[in-house]
Amino acid sequence: MDTQLALALLGGLSPRQFMRRHWQKKPLLVRQAIPGFVPLLTPTQLFALAGREEVESRLITQQAPRPARGRRAEAGWTLQSGPFARRALPPLKQPGWTLLVQGVDLHHGPAHELLQQFRFLPDARLDDLMISLASPGGGVGPHFDSYDVFLFQASGSRRWKISAQTDLTLQAGVPLKILQNFQPEQEFVLHAGDMLYLPPRYAHDGVAVEDPAGHSKAPCMTYSIGFKAPSRSELASGLLQGLAELVADEAEGLPPSLYRDPAQPATDTPALVPTALEAFARQALAQALKDPRRLACVLGEQLTEPKPTVWFEAQDVGADWPPGQALRLHACTRMLYDADHVFINGESYQARGADARLMRRLANERRLTARDMDRASPDARDLMTQWLADGWVTAQPSA
Ligand code: SIN
Ligand code: CO
Repeated sequence: MDTQLALALLGGLSPRQFMRRHWQKKPLLVRQAIPGFVPLLTPTQLFALAGREEVESRLITQQAPRPARGRRAEAGWTLQSGPFARRALPPLKQPGWTLLVQGVDLHHGPAHELLQQFRFLPDARLDDLMISLASPGGGVGPHFDSYDVFLFQASGSRRWKISAQTDLTLQAGVPLKILQNFQPEQEFVLHAGDMLYLPPRYAHDGVAVEDPAGHSKAPCMTYSIGFKAPSRSELASGLLQGLAELVADEAEGLPPSLYRDPAQPATDTPALVPTALEAFARQALAQALKDPRRLACVLGEQLTEPKPTVWFEAQDVGADWPPGQALRLHACTRMLYDADHVFINGESYQARGADARLMRRLANERRLTARDMDRASPDARDLMTQWLADGWVTAQPSA
């Protein structure tokens, strides 16, 4: 992608300008980010997804505020988790409910394709495409996310109120994250094709509204393209666990390197942890972290670990890559690389030279032509044939 090219998607900014001026800094409202957009799924298709076991879905219903004596009237919220049979969902004409379907890009090809327009951002930051369908008045309440999010209006209209407020206190005793004291600073109504970018922790509240001009009776569907920012503690705990496994694998079959204390004097404080033992433990950790490639390897494996709901179907394939066929990564496949490794679906490979270049191109473009496959080294072809058998890639007539 040419990151200097002005994009309608970003309101005429180039990806470079957007990243400098808005990303993680301030909201951007884009009118007609995708002009003439046709929703990728009908409500019926979305309901069908929400009925599937392996798809994460939630139903949020808001009851009208009931004032209690001497207290401010507050809306009541209920949250239910899917899967939902269609008859378990309220009718569209019943106001005040929202259905949220997570990870639609994993199950619906066109949704996966839509995300490709956002690949001026690192894949490692992309989380998923969530689709919400709301009846009039429906929303998830004023809240903030820990994600950078592009809120794209796919059909119908939604009124967004947003605020840079720093008071992010949440209401207690509600099943969702609802801000206790939301003070909107700006508001806009988004129609089909419009988009709003919000940085993490920016307070917002979106409510489905009927098209004021009465042009469209389409239900309010919003696509949230979310970019996760991993937390330091979450990363550290995953990496330490991954490093421990890597170190254990490397040490397999070798005599264990044991703590030795020939100079330990007799003690009259037997419960005290010996300082030499503490130093030995520190050294063991430092040793595990010494080679930066180890950490990079574990990080790449974790970043490409498929989501728990993802299941690849093994394929019956021959011993070699099918002749004349191009390769495409499966929509659920995560592939990244660094200076020394290629990572795919939680596995890492060391790659050098022409093979590394080919794999990096595959990771960036998510496809290779039949010609690329003909020219690939036997090792690379073997590996990609294995990925075909695992269902991680597909073989297709060359375009
Ligand atoms: C929605 O689509 O209703 C909620 C999206 C969000 O606020 O993050
Ligand atoms: Co949100």
